[in-house]
Amino acid sequence: SNEFTLAMIKPDAVAAGKARDIMHAIESNGFYIIAKKYIQLTEAEAKEFYGEHEGKPFFPNLITFMTSGPIYALCMSKIGAISAWRALMGPTNSKEAREIKPTSLRALYGTDNTKNACHGSDSTNSARREVLFYFPDISFPQLVDQG
Ligand code: CMP
Repeated sequence: SNEFTLAMIKPDAVAAGKARDIMHAIESNGFYIIAKKYIQLTEAEAKEFYGEHEGKPFFPNLITFMTSGPIYALCMSKIGAISAWRALMGPTNSKEAREIKPTSLRALYGTDNTKNACHGSDSTNSARREVLFYFPDISFPQLVDQG
């Protein structure tokens, strides 16, 4: 069914000038970008967004990276958007992505396990939370009906 997901184009891809290419890939793969925000996260915001990872070994590097420059946050819709966007991104680690899914966005635009060009929600619950994190005024019926 029609779903929403939250994507981020991360600081590495924005700084490398790849945001436009990634948005074109998103739209040519049938996603509708229904809200877009260009923002540089504060440390507090990054820690809140990634709260589920607090305490993991990669968390400090993740927060440093995600606050290092501006990002794009995108609310996107498509049939099966959550899994479709994760498939288009490829594996979390861009090095692994280049080995097993060389046409994926993380293979093309990321560097390693931290600098991996983009993010996508991993479930309907996190999609709802993450969309509302960036777009608190969004009020589509699908957002409350899903899951
Ligand atoms: P993302 O999909 O945004 O979710 C958590 C982020 O933490 C991940 O992408 C990476 O940028 C970063 N990260 C770094 N190391 C790891 C790891 N070992 N496992 C998962 N995520 C990691």
